Amino acid sequence: MYDLRGRPLRDLRISVTDRCNFRCNYCMPKEVFTKDYPYLPHSALLSFEEITRIAKIFVAHGVQKIRLTGGEPLLRKDIERLIEQLAALRTTDGQALDLTLTTNGSLLARKASALKAAGLQRVTVSLDGLDDAVFRRMNDVDFPVADVLEGIEAASAAGLGPIKINMVVKRGTNEQEILPMARRFKGSGMVLRFIEYMDVGATNGWRMTEVVPSEEVVKLIHAELPLVPLEPSNPGETAQRWGYADALGQHDLAMGEIGVISSVTKAFCGDCNRARLSTEGQLYTCLFASQGHDLRSLIRAQAPDADLSSAITRIWQGRGDHYSELRSALAADTGIPIRRVEMSYIGG
Ligand code: GTP
Ligand code: 5AD
Ligand code: SF4
Ligand code: SF4
Repeated sequence: MYDLRGRPLRDLRISVTDRCNFRCNYCMPKEVFTKDYPYLPHSALLSFEEITRIAKIFVAHGVQKIRLTGGEPLLRKDIERLIEQLAALRTTDGQALDLTLTTNGSLLARKASALKAAGLQRVTVSLDGLDDAVFRRMNDVDFPVADVLEGIEAASAAGLGPIKINMVVKRGTNEQEILPMARRFKGSGMVLRFIEYMDVGATNGWRMTEVVPSEEVVKLIHAELPLVPLEPSNPGETAQRWGYADALGQHDLAMGEIGVISSVTKAFCGDCNRARLSTEGQLYTCLFASQGHDLRSLIRAQAPDADLSSAITRIWQGRGDHYSELRSALAADTGIPIRRVEMSYIGG
């Protein structure tokens, strides 16, 4: 199944809650996401059975990777039960799915072994700095960095690897953490990725001046810890990979690699194979879409699998999204605000 730009569907990201215990300014700014914010009521959320039913149909359409996101997915009660159900699915060629989860790590120390036992394969942990003061300022709820580091260790000990660490870099906020993060994770077996701050959603007050281009990140690290470019490991991958070099300028496998995710300065829509299912069952074919496609109403109207399946085919085959490639053109545009969905609702 291909979309209008010839892209297959491979990756399904499922948001299981629109809530989070952090208030990262680039995602859920405190002034907007107050306790009076209209979060989804419980009845609006897809149940685990509804999620698994939809996921199974997606897998039959060629999905090979499922990522659980939020908000913070570990806040969803009994998430392990959902993981058990998803872990039982098989791809069209009979393989287990690449089943992973993005978390802020705050509950990981407590939950890592139960997640592994339920069938989760790996985790990606968001970590925007090592300095405690910087980290507390970025999560904006005064959460200590030591607890997240403990969560990462627990995930590693539980076998939830290879672990990826995602750092959103914001100019003037945490760019001084780039080198300490690189030093810390070099040779750790974990893959650190630097993410350009994006204009996702409508609340974070994004400005281009706060974006640190990946090229700058690579140069900064390379000056102290030499890097060599690596080939992509999967088509449609978000990150460009760089390996730590040995004395001969070859990739030193023991020292591992970093990634840079440059959706602002170097869009990667060309082979984007990702679909996103919101907490309430809206299907989005782009992170920057303003509108989703309602699958929940189909499910709750007792539609048979065949109807859900053809709805998904129709939506994917009609997909032409390539927002990040258009961004620069749009930026110079009319200044009319575009209503966009929040990342905490649709999932990273
Ligand atoms: P791996 O399979 O573990 O490599 O995951 P991934 O890189 O596909 O997913 P992850 O959720 O770790 O993505 C990292 C970050 O890249 C996200 O938090 C977003 O900031 C950004 N990102 C992921 N997918 C997209 C996308 O489709 N479009 C854009 N513009 N940004 C994306
Ligand atoms: N820009 C880039 N990445 C973002 N995320 C959330 N908001 C943004 C943004 N504005 C991503 C981060 C975080 C994950 C949960 O979502 O990677 O780690
Ligand atoms: Fe929560 Fe992640 Fe958004 Fe931060 S980036 S507010 S941890 S969902
Ligand atoms: Fe895919 Fe949209 Fe991101 Fe482009 S901007 S990579 S189409 S999700």
